[in-house]
Amino acid sequence: MRIDIITVLPELLKSPFEASILKRAIEAKLVEIHFHNLRDYTTDNYKSIDDTQFGGGAGMVMMIEPIDKCISKLKVERDYDDIIYMTPDGETLNQSIANHISTKENIIILCGHYKGVDQRVREQFITREISIGDYVLSGGELGAAVLCDAIIRLIPGVLGNETSALTDSFQDNVLSPPIYTRPRDYKGWKVPKVLFSGNFPEIEKWREEEAYKRTKERRPDLLDE
Ligand code: ADE
Repeated sequence: MRIDIITVLPELLKSPFEASILKRAIEAKLVEIHFHNLRDYTTDNYKSIDDTQFGGGAGMVMMIEPIDKCISKLKVERDYDDIIYMTPDGETLNQSIANHISTKENIIILCGHYKGVDQRVREQFITREISIGDYVLSGGELGAAVLCDAIIRLIPGVLGNETSALTDSFQDNVLSPPIYTRPRDYKGWKVPKVLFSGNFPEIEKWREEEAYKRTKERRPDLLDE
């Protein structure tokens, strides 16, 4: 998979890709990440990427021209399955969207700033708009990092244990059950006995019940879906 990220703040985005699972995925060539600084596609001396709103109103708007230049250049080089715009008014990211996007070959992620982008960008180039939650961030970069993390860990081979992404919370619309490791007894706080029983059908049943209980308590909305 190849991900091209268009941003005015590449330095804000780089570090999540320089550690742990994402770093290993890049080193193993399971994913390529390319950053494009929107200011490299400006035409004036000030490297302007934004301007005031037509019709008045507070806040600057990202202009179409540098974005068009950047996206058009990339589209000449290869076909893209999706051109995603990170925005608080997009569809809210969830596991099923992450699963879907993780199967794509090439995607572009455009990070918004200020008030957002000129509407014509959304109409002419964007195929999908994603929000990471009902709150407003200073820009799309942190959202793009969250989206990339959620999709890259699903690419086959990225996680050591192939099954572990499938057993994540949300994969079956239920949260994960409680998990424990050594010691068995810490200050009298004990690990549930069933986990030492060696009876794997029994352990699986316990996990399913606990997952259901936790989901019912914390996220009953998931059970309705
Ligand atoms: N940009 C600003 N807020 C955002 C959000 N909640 N999700 C994605 N991109 C954003």
